Amino acid sequence: MRLPKRIKMVEVGPRDGLQNEAVVVPTDIKIELINRLTETGLAAIEGASFVSPKWIPQMGDSSEVMQGIKRRPGISYPVLVPNLQGLQAAIAAGAEEVAVFGAASESFSRKNINCSIAVSFDRFGEVCDAARKQGLRVRGYVSCALGCPYEGAVDPESVAWVAGRMMELGCYEISLGDTIGVGTPGKAQAMIEAVSRKVQRERLAVHFHDTYGQALANILAVMEQGIAVIDSSVAGLGGCTFAPGASGNVASEDLLYMLKGLGIETGVDLQALIDAGRYISDFLQRPSGSRVANALAGQADS
Ligand code: HMG
Ligand code: MG
Repeated sequence: MRLPKRIKMVEVGPRDGLQNEAVVVPTDIKIELINRLTETGLAAIEGASFVSPKWIPQMGDSSEVMQGIKRRPGISYPVLVPNLQGLQAAIAAGAEEVAVFGAASESFSRKNINCSIAVSFDRFGEVCDAARKQGLRVRGYVSCALGCPYEGAVDPESVAWVAGRMMELGCYEISLGDTIGVGTPGKAQAMIEAVSRKVQRERLAVHFHDTYGQALANILAVMEQGIAVIDSSVAGLGGCTFAPGASGNVASEDLLYMLKGLGIETGVDLQALIDAGRYISDFLQRPSGSRVANALAGQADS
């Protein structure tokens, strides 16, 4: 196997995880979680999203969260923004990096951001232009990269087209989301193959939800293709309100354990990550979604 020597882990738990909790997690708990994640050595922590609180009440305190965290130089704290209104609020809260989020499926685009893919590009274009003028970096997400909850299978060429368009609009990196976690390794590789004809592999990231337990296998498969930026979520938190039944992202602890086993550098400390995961799982009063965290906790108890 030819694998990257170093992987950048992008932690999305405070956003992708907490946006999907039945309870609205209090602001101080979110801030403490992000501060603990800052201590782990992660280089990127997605902290919040500046979307309509009517659509996602769980993210209604994003300004307070992003103003309350202790930022550390060298770590980026991207936040989701769907439009200019979100961008302005994000900038006011100190954001230096934002992420726009589109989809390779027309139905999902309409359910998630209430507009067609074509209209979403107009909005992303406005956000990218305004962000660039203010010196912000913009990441792009393509949801439904391996399947859509409403349309089923998604053509890799559609994913490639949306990713290519987002790159043209000015995103520095495109994260390909298996929003409902249905992908398998061969399909993931075929999708990366198609997308990399439009966007350089060095500019691609992957974002696997683990609904069907395929996330680590998919990650290993795309690492073999040279993908070296991987999104994950501490304690496996997560899901998407507009993707019924979808579970959390691959757990950050499980991803890190696999990468360590492969001798791949990340700069992230496993025990510190497990501790951050335990903090939020204890608050949510449920076991961690990380198999590794649970296995190591079991060893410590015995
Ligand atoms: P809309 O209703 O079509 O927007 O929503 P609108 O422009 O007509 O505005 C309606 C109201 O929303 C107005 O308020 C606006 O002020 C307000 P009102 O006058 O009714 O009081 N509004 C906003 N408020 C705060 N921040 C904003 C904002 N924009 C408008 N930025 C909109 C369109 C995009 C806003 C809405 O559909 C929305 O917020 N959607 C967000 C959905 C979301 O957050 N989904 C989860 C994240 S995506 C995801 O999880 C997938 C990912 O993880 C990758 C993967 O797994 O595949 C990234
Ligand atoms: Mg997601």
